[in-house]
Amino acid sequence: MISILENATPATGFEASVLEVIKDRRSKRAYSNQPVEEDKIRSLFEAARWAPSSMNEQPWTYIYATKDEPELWNRIFETLSEGNRIWAVDAPLLIMSLARTKFIRNGRTNASAKYDLGAANAFLSLQATALGLNVHQMGGYDKEKLVENLNVPLDELEPGVVIAVGYSGDAEKLPDNLKQREEAPRLRYPQESFVMNKSF
Ligand SMILES: Cc1cc2nc3c(=O)[nH]c(=O)nc-3n(C[C@H](O)[C@H](O)[C@H](O)COP(=O)(O)O)c2cc1C
Repeated sequence: MISILENATPATGFEASVLEVIKDRRSKRAYSNQPVEEDKIRSLFEAARWAPSSMNEQPWTYIYATKDEPELWNRIFETLSEGNRIWAVDAPLLIMSLARTKFIRNGRTNASAKYDLGAANAFLSLQATALGLNVHQMGGYDKEKLVENLNVPLDELEPGVVIAVGYSGDAEKLPDNLKQREEAPRLRYPQESFVMNKSF
């Protein structure tokens, strides 16, 4: 392990001031059945649109489905791992994020594609928080099934995370183990364990 991480213990609380949306964002699992308004959905993708990317390639692609489109929503939902399906079943909006792996200009591999997709997803998440929405990213899904269900052209696109979006619901309705996680203190490594002002 890298030496500065040795003996580091995650702790609660903020060590310096940050934007309110950074404080407020949390990957919750309890969703209400209130649909996400169309203008808010557009706002989420607008935030992603303005993320930085290598060579301004903007290599993100999104497929979204609301519960009003059950066929498409289900195509995404049924690929989720069992542990995610337990709670994501209530999410009114599911988003599949994908990275375009080759540069449009020359067809060469874009080594930054997934990095840039992550930045776009982070922008989307913070915008959602500002709009009063909860966002929960998921890597737990069956990639092969998802590729099949959404006819993803793998020579162009690489699946990223599936993102559940919606308004927060009643955590009491979650199974006990998930309810506990919902209410558990948020832990982070201290800055001193990952920030240095000197060389290795
Ligand atoms: C790439 C990625 C994959 C994740 N996959 C899952 C997942 O499959 N299921 C899940 O419940 N949470 C998943 N999460 C959420 C993390 O568990 C969560 O972000 C982390 O515990 C920190 O909690 P916070 O987002 O509330 O600050 C994922 C997050 C990221 C960024």
